[in-house]
Amino acid sequence: MQSSYSTNECTRLHEELEKIAEEIRACRRCPLHASRTNAVPGEGNPCSRVVFIGEAPGSNEDQQGRPFVGAAGQLLTSLLTSNGIPRENVFITNVVKCRPPGNRDPHDEEIQACLPFLLRQLKLIRPSLIVTLGRHSTRTVLGYYGHSADSIMAVRGRVYRIEAEWGELVVFPTLHPAAALYNPRLRTILEDDFKHIATVLQGKGSKGQSTLDEFFR
Ligand code: URA
Repeated sequence: MQSSYSTNECTRLHEELEKIAEEIRACRRCPLHASRTNAVPGEGNPCSRVVFIGEAPGSNEDQQGRPFVGAAGQLLTSLLTSNGIPRENVFITNVVKCRPPGNRDPHDEEIQACLPFLLRQLKLIRPSLIVTLGRHSTRTVLGYYGHSADSIMAVRGRVYRIEAEWGELVVFPTLHPAAALYNPRLRTILEDDFKHIATVLQGKGSKGQSTLDEFFR
């Protein structure tokens, strides 16, 4: 699990991801392009082996062109750092890259139109762990790998071992941070899931003695 990426390879990955980001910023594949201020391709360490996938940008993200920068983003950042995972060490993106008006749920056609971008990002990053945040990203990612996920409460906190094109992948669904903002019960569940994520990372390393650092190249 130790990094095998050189600085040059990380730079190349960064450039390849930026090319996809440019395509996303110019995308007109679905009606959401008409109401966006900024598309939100995603951000983070291109050499990370850990990817967090949310649903779609909200108003703050649309304004700034960055994922998870509003209240839900602050909770995500604090859940990461309190579990020893600096936000800048992972890659964070969404299933849908443009804001649905009024923060409505993304439509299936919007998810399908945007999915090729996410799949291309993942193929470049080749993560060992994907954490899906909320029901839309969980349903989309698990669905792509042939698993059904009708209810987020039924699948959250479970470890899905998947043979991805690039090798062994764990998909770990959890709740969307926005759902936990004003609901203490859901917040406790989310906090427990993030503790579990840190444990999963520690258990997945080489020779059974990995540190979280091994996942952040
Ligand atoms: N909610 C999401 O799903 N994604 C964001 O980027 C922000 C809020």
